[in-house]
Amino acid sequence: MTQTFVQSADDVVAFLTAQHNLIKDMFDDVLSASSTKAREKAFVDLRQLLAVHETAEEMVVHPRVRHEVRGGDEIVDARLHEEHAAKEQLSKLESMDVDSKEFIDALTKFRDAVADHADHEENEEFNKLQRNLAADDLKRMEKAVQAAEALAPTRPHPGVESAKMNFAVGPFASMLDRARDAIGAALR
Ligand SMILES: [Fe+2]
Ligand SMILES: [Fe+2]
Repeated sequence: MTQTFVQSADDVVAFLTAQHNLIKDMFDDVLSASSTKAREKAFVDLRQLLAVHETAEEMVVHPRVRHEVRGGDEIVDARLHEEHAAKEQLSKLESMDVDSKEFIDALTKFRDAVADHADHEENEEFNKLQRNLAADDLKRMEKAVQAAEALAPTRPHPGVESAKMNFAVGPFASMLDRARDAIGAALR
């Protein structure tokens, strides 16, 4: 099970916002690491957290935004586009030497893109879910996000941004039922 680093929060918005802040700190950990080993470890931790965080958003948050928020389709399509680009950047970073200037430059650019993506989610999705959904619904969504993160693949897979695709194809097919059960139970 992947360590998702954030303690249980009050609701889905608090949980994912805390994770956004943690992700930003983890970028700094990679950039400021004092040895190759420390930088590699910090990068693996960051990559894992990003992978499970984005998968959970794709399974739990974006589908709700499509249904509950006016103009939701357009908002979510833009977020999925950003998440797809992020996964591609992450796969490129994986093949670089963590001590190279190339890696530091690419990671710095990637950090800025991820921070912008997080701001867009907080301002265009989280705020609106908070406004449109009841408190207990937001609490149930937090449980669903935690269940999704516990089962999510820990490496990024560009091209599997839709909620259906992430769990319905390739190596994730076997997780499909478990994930649905866990998420369904959390949402009941
Ligand atoms: Fe996201
Ligand atoms: Fe996010």
